[in-house]
Amino acid sequence: MKAAIDSIIQSYKMLPHPEGGFYKESYRSDLLLEGDSLSNGMNGRRNCSTAILFLLVENSFSAFHRIKSDEVWHFYDGDPVQIHVIEPNGHYYIIKLGRNTLDNEVFQAVVPAGAWFASKTIGAYSLVGCTVSPGFDFADFELANGESLAAEFPDQKELILAFCRH
Ligand code: GUN
Repeated sequence: MKAAIDSIIQSYKMLPHPEGGFYKESYRSDLLLEGDSLSNGMNGRRNCSTAILFLLVENSFSAFHRIKSDEVWHFYDGDPVQIHVIEPNGHYYIIKLGRNTLDNEVFQAVVPAGAWFASKTIGAYSLVGCTVSPGFDFADFELANGESLAAEFPDQKELILAFCRH
């Protein structure tokens, strides 16, 4: 399995993502959105849309973070992914991304803008896609501090601390 994982990382020239996992940006629109047209707290212009290939591997996770755009997740290959979502009002739920519709897995799901989310493959690896519009910018990306997030959402404390690295 390690050979398959290494092959995906090398074929797509993936880089380690600050949140965990590996990624390769596959699309960034030439079309731009001017800052004054954006009503969601983004400072400055953004590409209209971006997409990445994202790889999660076993014994690792994508840590709790949030962005200012809705993020559409697409399942491509490997094992199912669990995405833990905590909305700003505290509503917590798990999205199961995968191909087994008989087990309530979905091929596509949306994580709403402003929600905190973390994810993990439930097997050896998962290859997924993540599309955001307005396009991704690290200025809109916030990695959670475990203690602060747990203080804000005490009902999810154990989960939050398990899915944060600092
Ligand atoms: N580009 C770099 N990082 C990310 C990410 O976490 N999500 C999306 N959609 N694009 C990215």
